[in-house]
Amino acid sequence: MKILLLGSGGREHALAWKIAQSDKCEKLYIAPGNAGTGQCGENVAMKADDFEAIKAFVVEKGINMVVVGPEDPLVKGIYDNLKTDERTKDIPVIGPSKAGAVLEGSKDFAKAFMERHNIPTARYQTFDGEHLEEGLKFLETLEAPYVLKADGLCAGKGVLILPTLDEAKKELKEMLGGMFGNASSRVVIEEFMSGIECSVFVLTDGKNYKILPEAKDYKRIGEHDTGLNTGGMGSVTPVPFATKEWMQKVEDRIIRPTVEGLAADGIDYKGFIFFGLINRTNTPSKEAEPYVIEYNCRMGDPETESVMLRLKSDIVDLFEGVAEGNLNERAIAFDERAAVCVMLVSGGYPQEYKKGYPIKGIEDVEGSMVFHAGTAMKDGEVVTNGGRVIAVSSYGKDKAEALQKSFEEAQKIGFTDKYFRRDIGADL
Ligand code: AMP
Ligand code: GLY
Repeated sequence: MKILLLGSGGREHALAWKIAQSDKCEKLYIAPGNAGTGQCGENVAMKADDFEAIKAFVVEKGINMVVVGPEDPLVKGIYDNLKTDERTKDIPVIGPSKAGAVLEGSKDFAKAFMERHNIPTARYQTFDGEHLEEGLKFLETLEAPYVLKADGLCAGKGVLILPTLDEAKKELKEMLGGMFGNASSRVVIEEFMSGIECSVFVLTDGKNYKILPEAKDYKRIGEHDTGLNTGGMGSVTPVPFATKEWMQKVEDRIIRPTVEGLAADGIDYKGFIFFGLINRTNTPSKEAEPYVIEYNCRMGDPETESVMLRLKSDIVDLFEGVAEGNLNERAIAFDERAAVCVMLVSGGYPQEYKKGYPIKGIEDVEGSMVFHAGTAMKDGEVVTNGGRVIAVSSYGKDKAEALQKSFEEAQKIGFTDKYFRRDIGADL
């Protein structure tokens, strides 16, 4: 099978690494890819949301499957675009239709979906600029801290958590006044949930599903979860509180109702669902229970860089099951070991940082995986090309051993102003 994978981050390198191991994959292209994906297949200079170029490439190369890494092309409707073109309508796309990607593309849609299908999530209401007064009144019915979310995609920046009512009111006015452009023309206000977060991933063919290993990611730039939010500074799997009993609740109350809800709503969904969960402690019963914070329509980054290490099965076989609607007939098995990833980032990230620094020492890394995130080839040399640069992923008999290994190997990789968090996994 000839496969085209779209995207260019650490997630895509990890997916490319896994896809390339499959006997069913005869040729892998990655568009646009990075210096790491180029070791797993052939990079193609094509943007992941340039649908016309992608379709022409699919036809020219006789591509048999398109796997979509990031949310952007999905939210823009790549699935529907290929399915409604005579030339590409029969090519399986791993990733949901535009109607399904709205689960990530609109917070209001996701909340209404959960409410409709009785899926546990924080109580909420949505307001637009014409209903500011009602929004301010709704805030008064909640307790601090206050959670405000821009409805649309904001590259992870659209959620504000405010400690006081006054600040919440002020920010609500600013958001509805265009703080995040069109994305905050509607704002979801919801109850604050306390607890520890956990990412759960499912691959679905629209009817059947397989649950992948759960993971925890570390979003803040600073140690002990301080400082600005990033795309993710590391990840750990398994997550100790995600016991068999807890995961059973997740499956019964969240996963199954979501997959069935999508089908009941007539939404075409063949791909990954990422459940951003919290083991909520401030529940009415005071017992910790799984609740949904958000949905994403793709795998997590940097969770993929640890989760793929634990997937023992052939991922292309699973993708085939998604495409053919017989995922239930495909086997899935996991490595019992722990896996972690530690992200090496450019100094200054997530604010301003420089690109183009040579990266040394990658070839000295032994026994860990080096997944490239923001890298590029320049004059035959690997150079930094983004905020998050490289994920160092390792196995261990437990998370402590895996982390020690990643930290050790991370020291061998050098570039100007390299930074990484040394406390990944320390809270678990
Ligand atoms: P989201 O983009 O919806 O995942 O939100 C970003 C982050 O904000 C989440 O990962 C949580 O850490 C936090 N967050 C979002 N909603 C809530 C909530 N209702 N209660 C507590 N924290 C939240
Ligand atoms: N790690 C969180 C995300 O991929 O959105």
